[in-house]
Amino acid sequence: MYKTVVTETRFTDFVGASLVGCNFSGARLVNQNTDSIGTNLTGSIIPDEPLIRSKLYNSILPNGTWGPIPSKNLVVNGDAEQNKLIANRTYLTGWIVSFPGRIIAMLVIFYISFLATAVPGLLSAHQSNDNIVSLNIENADSGQAIPSIMHGVILETNINRGDDGGLYAELIYNRAFQENGRSLDGWLIFGQASANINTDEPLSTALPAQMRFSINAQSNNISGFRNGGFAGINVAAQNYTASFFYRPLTNSYLPGNTLSIGFSDSTGQIIYAMQTVNVSKAPINQWYYFTFIITVVNAAPTSKNFFFIQFPSGSQGDFEFNLISCFPPTFKNRPNGARNDIAQVFSDLKPGCVRLPGGDDLEGLSIPERFIWNNTIGFLENRPGRRGRWIGYNTQGFGLLELLTFTEDIGATPILAVYAGYSVDGKAVPEDQLQPYIDEVINELDFLTASADSNKMGGLRKRLGRSQPFDIRYVEIGNEDFNGYGPQTYGYRWRDFYNALSQRFPNITFIATTTTSITTPPVVDDHNYQVPLFYIENFRRYENVPRPGPKVLVGEFAVINDDDSQMDNPWGSGRISFSSMKSAVAESVYRIGFERNSDIIIAGLYAPILQNVDITQWTPNLIVFNASSVLKTTSYLAQKIFAENLGNIILHSTATNSTMTHQSVQQGQEGDGKLGNLYFIATKNTDNNTLIVKLASVDSNDTIVKTQIHGSMASATGTAYILSAGPGVDPSKVANTMDNPNAVSIVTKSISSINGTWSITIPSWSVVVVTLPL
Ligand code: AHR
Repeated sequence: MYKTVVTETRFTDFVGASLVGCNFSGARLVNQNTDSIGTNLTGSIIPDEPLIRSKLYNSILPNGTWGPIPSKNLVVNGDAEQNKLIANRTYLTGWIVSFPGRIIAMLVIFYISFLATAVPGLLSAHQSNDNIVSLNIENADSGQAIPSIMHGVILETNINRGDDGGLYAELIYNRAFQENGRSLDGWLIFGQASANINTDEPLSTALPAQMRFSINAQSNNISGFRNGGFAGINVAAQNYTASFFYRPLTNSYLPGNTLSIGFSDSTGQIIYAMQTVNVSKAPINQWYYFTFIITVVNAAPTSKNFFFIQFPSGSQGDFEFNLISCFPPTFKNRPNGARNDIAQVFSDLKPGCVRLPGGDDLEGLSIPERFIWNNTIGFLENRPGRRGRWIGYNTQGFGLLELLTFTEDIGATPILAVYAGYSVDGKAVPEDQLQPYIDEVINELDFLTASADSNKMGGLRKRLGRSQPFDIRYVEIGNEDFNGYGPQTYGYRWRDFYNALSQRFPNITFIATTTTSITTPPVVDDHNYQVPLFYIENFRRYENVPRPGPKVLVGEFAVINDDDSQMDNPWGSGRISFSSMKSAVAESVYRIGFERNSDIIIAGLYAPILQNVDITQWTPNLIVFNASSVLKTTSYLAQKIFAENLGNIILHSTATNSTMTHQSVQQGQEGDGKLGNLYFIATKNTDNNTLIVKLASVDSNDTIVKTQIHGSMASATGTAYILSAGPGVDPSKVANTMDNPNAVSIVTKSISSINGTWSITIPSWSVVVVTLPL
């Protein structure tokens, strides 16, 4: 039995809903990342309390106008189970909501009718025995175009040490002594020596503090210092390129002028590789740069290794070091480049687009700590870095050029996020002080896109080794300005940035982070971190966005909690460490929705992508790694089969069961995009005349899909890519983890069509992609 009380509701649940004349007075507010699209609130009374992390797109507002209202986010209190209102449904006009403890008759009537329409649909689908579906696909040579960038990711710097300590191949942690203010964090001193931070005669303005290593009396043993990397160093049989800046002080004495550098175990007793470096060229009291190769012949058995620099017995005096660096071979051999194994897995995902460099880390913890593009280019000794939004220090060694070069190397389209005068501390640049920040972005875009020969910034790019402009088609102005105090100032910030940038860069599509307090931008970014049921219930979310209107970039989304009862607080109890099969299926349902709404969705981006499992602030993530291995999560595998099999047009398709006919399927109703617990889309790659069918099942039983293609009688052999939890298994309990990295893998099966007819069994809780020549 269901209790006859609606206990909680919020605008998030009201996508496309009609809530005409409702009275929400007295509703409690929650602090959640919420939004709503296409809600009709004409005549409703909404309490005027300040809200955080919410937004409302294209809704009919209480006063009957279209457009944004200040963030609103409602919870109606009650004492029963938590149940949600469903999107796309017309609720009772004039509904009055009761508050703590009081339930009025009208609400009871409403809720009974709600149960009658909403819940049985879910239950019957789960319990259905009728799991034979007939799928009709109409072959065609034209149809709604699907953006080629459709399935992407956000690559946010700093989070989970995704760049420093992750994708950025640098092995040395705190290489320029910038962590924890200025410190020797991560450096261990051994032998008859001591070390401290010194700021006299620094290496550069950007790197103002160095290590002073002191051997006070003439030593009779080796001394030195070692660094354990970002939670370990992988020592493999290969060449490493190491370097440092070195300054011997007047009182220094180094027998033979030779240092020994290499890799050891944590005790220093086992040396895996060592290289001697003659530093006699370094003049007394002056900085001198040394670079050299360390060759490892036999790999170390674990990654609990250290990089060391050691002084011979008899050394004495003070020696200074800065920017101590060591790189393994990098992805595509780029200098200062990406870690090969992570980059390869990233590349194999075949993301259509990469949004960078954030996220919150674009904004920075405060205005001076924002992403300042020109601090991230050029010689490493001239990059000051900044305090990371998520953890420690952000060296920005993997700076703007490295990020964009990597994106280009993997064949993805960048979605460049630019700083828009608002930081994580909630402070905004006042409008009369905004111009320098706008100029900063103009210079950034000139730097990336202008001619190397006729533009000063383009010339700078060329001097840094890149003459060809980057292909920047999308620029997002800011990040999550629906948060905190963002909405209060985004109106002028968006307007001033957009007007200046769109005039100067007419070929770039600009993306707003919210429609709260701005008029219709070309594209708006929509973020969702939720439970699986949210994505399943919101399959038609974007079908209900009014057209015409801003296009939508789903710039961040992921299942972060597998417990469906936590829909109103996915950040709380049940937050997952690794995505499960249940998460992957729910995300795939949502992705099918993206493709189906290709007229309005430009792309959907999983977030975040990278996680150093030993230095984590946010879970789950798509690619998880430690110092020596890389994990493809369940969500990764699901996104991969979607991204690498992307059609360029949508084909009309309908699904029916034994009680339906294809002719009677209505747009937006059962049979269109979904039937019971099966979600689907048929698309075509017209370049190679291939049918691509994507299916996601949230059923606990297998579903047999019998397919008939109309307009192609071809008999052909194709491939099904199948990702499933396995029969009779709770899909929320199945996940690829560091301990069990291959719990789920992609299974391929051959599919044969005879005269355009073929069948496939879709396992319970699975994601399936079928490709078939037409
Ligand atoms: O993806 C992690 C964070 O989530 C991003 O930094 C921010 O944009 C969002 O709140």
